[in-house]
Amino acid sequence: MKPCEPGNREMYPVELVDVWKSYDERNFVLKEVNLKVRRGEFISIRGKSGIGKTTLLRLIGLLDTPTKGEVLFYGRRVSGLRDEEASELRLRRIGFVFQFFNLIPSLTVLENIELPMSIAGFRKRERRERAFSLLEKFKLENLAYRMPDEISGGEKQRIAIIRALANKPEIIVADEPTANLDEENTFKTLNLLKEINEERNVTIILATTSFLEEIPSHRNYTLKNGELIEIEI
Ligand SMILES: Nc1ncnc2c1ncn2[C@@H]1O[C@H](COP(=O)(O)OP(=O)(O)O)[C@@H](O)[C@H]1O
Ligand SMILES: [Mg+2]
Repeated sequence: MKPCEPGNREMYPVELVDVWKSYDERNFVLKEVNLKVRRGEFISIRGKSGIGKTTLLRLIGLLDTPTKGEVLFYGRRVSGLRDEEASELRLRRIGFVFQFFNLIPSLTVLENIELPMSIAGFRKRERRERAFSLLEKFKLENLAYRMPDEISGGEKQRIAIIRALANKPEIIVADEPTANLDEENTFKTLNLLKEINEERNVTIILATTSFLEEIPSHRNYTLKNGELIEIEI
């Protein structure tokens, strides 16, 4: 499915308007960042460690607020939301994937996938069925009853991505999801994200330190002195 054409503001799951971010009131990690991401678009943010990728992703994922400027979610201003409202949006509409997988070690794979549904208030039977059908869909049902330390790094990341899908998010924010994976698992992880993007029309924003990595993205950006710049890969 192609990303939809730009129209009114409601078309953009993510919009940043003149966003600045500093952690110490002096040095700005992000300066005057403007970004519009269309529904169903897959974008990459590339740049070396410390450049501000996570800072940007945390603003997009409503985990932090800008020092100045606005973050809009489908045209709605969300940078000033109360914590509870931001948490609710995050829980139901945004999925997160991290570099270190962040699976809960004391829960089985199936329980890890159920967790966001549990927090969202789904009943046991419903969440178990959905978690299992997601595993089946991606042919990973054989891992359902394993513990995270009984599966490989690549499997962990695929499970983490499936967990991010649990509450049917419209956006997935993936922060260096392939940084700890070998070539084969990097390929599988990116393919899984591509499939989710194409089949479910989920908007994906992915950060990576590599400028060479073949991300199945529609547009690519980098940060230079805090400014976001579109690049050709
Ligand atoms: N919570 C924080 N408090 C203070 N400084 C931070 C914080 N998070 C990140 N930084 C600083 O902001 C800059 C950008 O960091 P980050 O966004 O994590 O970069 P990247 O993800 O590209 O490695 C770095 O200089 C980092 O030290
Ligand atoms: Mg980072």
